[in-house]
Amino acid sequence: LFSATRVQAVSTMAADEEVVGTVKDQLAKLFEESLRVTVPDQTDTDPLIAACNPRFGDYQCNNAMSLWTKIKGTGSAFTGPQPVGQAIMTNLPRSEMIESCSIAGPGFVNVKLSRQWIAKSIQKMLIKGIETWSPKLRVKRAVVDFSSPNIAKEMHVGHLRSTIIGDTLARMLEFSNVEVLRRNHVGDWGTQAFYKASKQRFDSDPGFKERAQQAVVSLQGGKEKYRKAWSQICEISRKGYEKVYQRLGIVLEEKGESFYNPYIPGVLEELGKKGLIEESEGARVIFIEGKKYPFIVVKSDGGFNYASTDLTALWYRLNEEKAEWMIYVTDVGQREHFEMLFTAAKRAGWLPPGDNSYPKANHVGFGLVLGEDGKRFRTRSTEVVKLVDLLDEAKSRCKAALVERGKAEEWTEEELEQTAEAVGYGAVKYADLKNNRLTNYTFNFDQMLNDQGNTAVYLLYAHARICSIIRKSGKDVEELKKTGALVLEHPNERALGLHLLQFAEIVEEACTNLLPNVLLWGQRRRQADSCCVKRLQRSCGNASIYLVFGQSTRYDILGEDSSHLQKDFDNYVWAHDYRYYA
Ligand code: ARG
Repeated sequence: LFSATRVQAVSTMAADEEVVGTVKDQLAKLFEESLRVTVPDQTDTDPLIAACNPRFGDYQCNNAMSLWTKIKGTGSAFTGPQPVGQAIMTNLPRSEMIESCSIAGPGFVNVKLSRQWIAKSIQKMLIKGIETWSPKLRVKRAVVDFSSPNIAKEMHVGHLRSTIIGDTLARMLEFSNVEVLRRNHVGDWGTQAFYKASKQRFDSDPGFKERAQQAVVSLQGGKEKYRKAWSQICEISRKGYEKVYQRLGIVLEEKGESFYNPYIPGVLEELGKKGLIEESEGARVIFIEGKKYPFIVVKSDGGFNYASTDLTALWYRLNEEKAEWMIYVTDVGQREHFEMLFTAAKRAGWLPPGDNSYPKANHVGFGLVLGEDGKRFRTRSTEVVKLVDLLDEAKSRCKAALVERGKAEEWTEEELEQTAEAVGYGAVKYADLKNNRLTNYTFNFDQMLNDQGNTAVYLLYAHARICSIIRKSGKDVEELKKTGALVLEHPNERALGLHLLQFAEIVEEACTNLLPNVLLWGQRRRQADSCCVKRLQRSCGNASIYLVFGQSTRYDILGEDSSHLQKDFDNYVWAHDYRYYA
């Protein structure tokens, strides 16, 4: 792409030129001006810009249809959506961005971007660095609550997902200049901290169970003897977790359930004053409309629980930590809990009603990890699969493959170890992240370590090859940046250039929807024809829109709650080359 033999002119870009937002933002600005001229009395019209089918152009503006619906019969001079589209196109201010425009269908304005402009823009990206190409999000500070294992229990494969997805979301937001408070909400405070080793007895011996529950109350009340035992147990677990985080390169700050204990009474008092808390069968609860069971905030034995802690943590994050976005990464099984939590917070006036304004809270659910048998992933000998064992195996398999390729002779032992770790752990992470987080996925070492498929191994390999091409070219990239100009000649070069340029857009989308896989699927996702989406939205009433990509027989669902839509899968439409289901 960046070839010295085709250097044409020295870049004329001013050094202090500012980054002007995503391509979509820049186009939106142009269309905003056009709309102001085209329909001066429709002042609240936001430009609707979407990436479009490459056959028609690069982007399209979809305002004509909805504008027509608004203005028809109001004595406007327009005779239909197409003339509206035509006018939007004619009134578009001149810009070096745009090579040509055309009208399609009932008034879409298709835009083909200028090749030179794409080249110039990605050259800017190259010179200024990818960091300057981050999306601008509306949030300044967010809490990402992830990993969060339970003390006295081993981290298992479910925590692997929370850890990997949470860390990735945190990285995506950090890249987008959001300050992220990475929170490990460890379960260090419930009955589990004491009873794990005595679980069986707890289940079978009512007297023991009773004493265990009393012990929790004593612990929560701060009794010295219980506190001491508890902190020893926590310390042992903590050391185990830390090892896993180190291996995966994950940074997290522990603020476990116990941290919020002192704040619980005050928070419950506030909720009580607001009239949210009621008495039910000896417990204190918050009734949530539409839910079968209430949200129990004080158990009948007087102890606090998961819900009281989470209410308090939410309060703390909002008021003490001043976070605007609270993100919770757990398996989908906890969805109900978080729905109740967020509804309670809305009723308390902590969060605004609706889901689109800040401060905001989101549950980031994920599906199960399955074994080859299609059931929940287990090993033959143990009930749950230990995370540490998985990482060990990924690494040792990689090492064996490297040795087989003769790397043991070529490299030092340290290099061999490092490479096996990078590839092995990378493969485990990537296999998880490439799927839509809501889908269950099958854990398969052979697949994730395959160097041909959509795997980390393949990506690392591709990266190594790119490095080698640069090396073999004998060119100094730093020098080229200063003296060369990018030229996009071949259609594939143009397509690649455009793709690079859409980087910020894709990151923004991945952040907004809290979907790491969009970073990989961005290209496809981008093709979403917003008109089609609108149509689906209409047919779904006021339900949110769920896009499903048909990829042979597998479907990925974008959107949190799709279960009630499963039955409607037959009602699909074809949009360009992709299928969208609602
Ligand atoms: N410890 C919980 C579990 O292992 C996850 C905690 C998630 N975070 C929260 N604030 N509830 O299932």
